[in-house]
Formats: sequence, structure tokens, C-alpha cells
Amino acid sequence: QNDLGTDIEKVLVTEAQIKHRLMELASDIDRDYHDREILLVGVLKGAVMVMADLARALHNPVRMDWMAVSSYGSGTKSSGVVRILKDLDTDLKDQHVLIVEDIIDSGLTLSWLLSNLRSRGAASVEVCTLLRKPEALKVDLDVRYVGFDVPNEFVIGYGLDYAEKYRNVPFVATLAPHVYR
Ligand code: PRP
Ligand code: MN
Ligand code: MG
Repeated sequence: QNDLGTDIEKVLVTEAQIKHRLMELASDIDRDYHDREILLVGVLKGAVMVMADLARALHNPVRMDWMAVSSYGSGTKSSGVVRILKDLDTDLKDQHVLIVEDIIDSGLTLSWLLSNLRSRGAASVEVCTLLRKPEALKVDLDVRYVGFDVPNEFVIGYGLDYAEKYRNVPFVATLAPHVYR
């Protein structure tokens, strides 16, 4: 059986809340970048949904590019050692880069990404994330645009996966214990 209803434990952020918050963030971004062109950089695969909806909520035209990175190391948790699986097609020199993420967990992926992208000569690099887990953060990060802070629990939906599944769920939720068995 493949039934979302029994897999979900608790909805943490509803579809309407996400939509409303992304509209707010988009209007902040429009205001902050009114005199600059933005290059949105989505981090595959989790950021796909946020990127699609945030980009369409922005008033002015932007460029969009994608990166795929993988954290590797001993554990299953992010190690901070990051490998580029797919690099950008765009030269970042003098670009105003806005990294788009679904979630900042330990912050190690993003911390690496920030210094990597900054070293390419971008004029500015900022971050927009739908979710952040303040209790899981291991590094000091300056994140300009945050949708929601969530508790330190495993969450899925709106791009976030468990074993590559549930990315299509239109809200953010925790999973019932039986799913992990
Ligand atoms: C997840 C998430 C963030 C990152 C956050 O990606 O989408 O990119 O982990 O973790 P951190 O703050 O602890 O570094 P994941 O590596 O699972 O790849 P995915 O986006 O393809 O699911
Ligand atoms: Mn990701
Ligand atoms: Mg993942």
C-alpha cells in the first residue's frame, strides 16, 4: 500500500501557509533587489518546489541556475565535506546570487556553498530558505530570507524527501514511525 494519509504524523506547515510566506519573502526580495538583477541558484533536488514557487512570486525577471551537491563522509548526516555533482552553467562574476534552499539543517552544506560561490567573484551572495532548524545548526550562518523555523524533527514534503520519496507532498510534515520500519 502507498497511502499518504497513513504515512503522515503531523502537518507542520500547510500549503496555504507556504504560499502566503513565499509571497511575503518575494516582496521583500523585490524591494531589496529593486536596482539589481538576481541570479537564483537552486540546490537540487530539495529546492525545486521553493524555486518554482518563489520565482513565480517575484515581480521582476530573474535568471535561474541549478547546482547539485552531495555531502559525503562516514555518517548519514551532513559532514560539511561537499562534492559538486552538477555545477552551475553561469559565470558568477559580478552576479547578485540568491541561493534558494528548502531547508537548513546543520547548515554545513550551505556554509560550504556560500564560501564556494563567494570565491567565484559574485558581487553578492545571499540565501533564501523555506525552512530552518535552529536547534540543529552547527555553524554561524547569515541567512537573509527564512520562511519558517521548525523543530529539530525529520520533516518531508514540498521538496524534502525521505529516501527520495514524499518530495511531491504539497505541505511540510513529519512521518509516522511505521514509515521508518
Ligand atoms: C538536504 C536539504 C539541504 C541540506 C541541508 O539536501 O535539501 O540541501 O540537506 O542539510 P545541512 O544543513 O545539514 O547541510 P540533501 O543532501 O538531502 O539532498 P536533496 O536536496 O537532493 O534531498
Ligand atoms: Mn538539498
Ligand atoms: Mg534529501
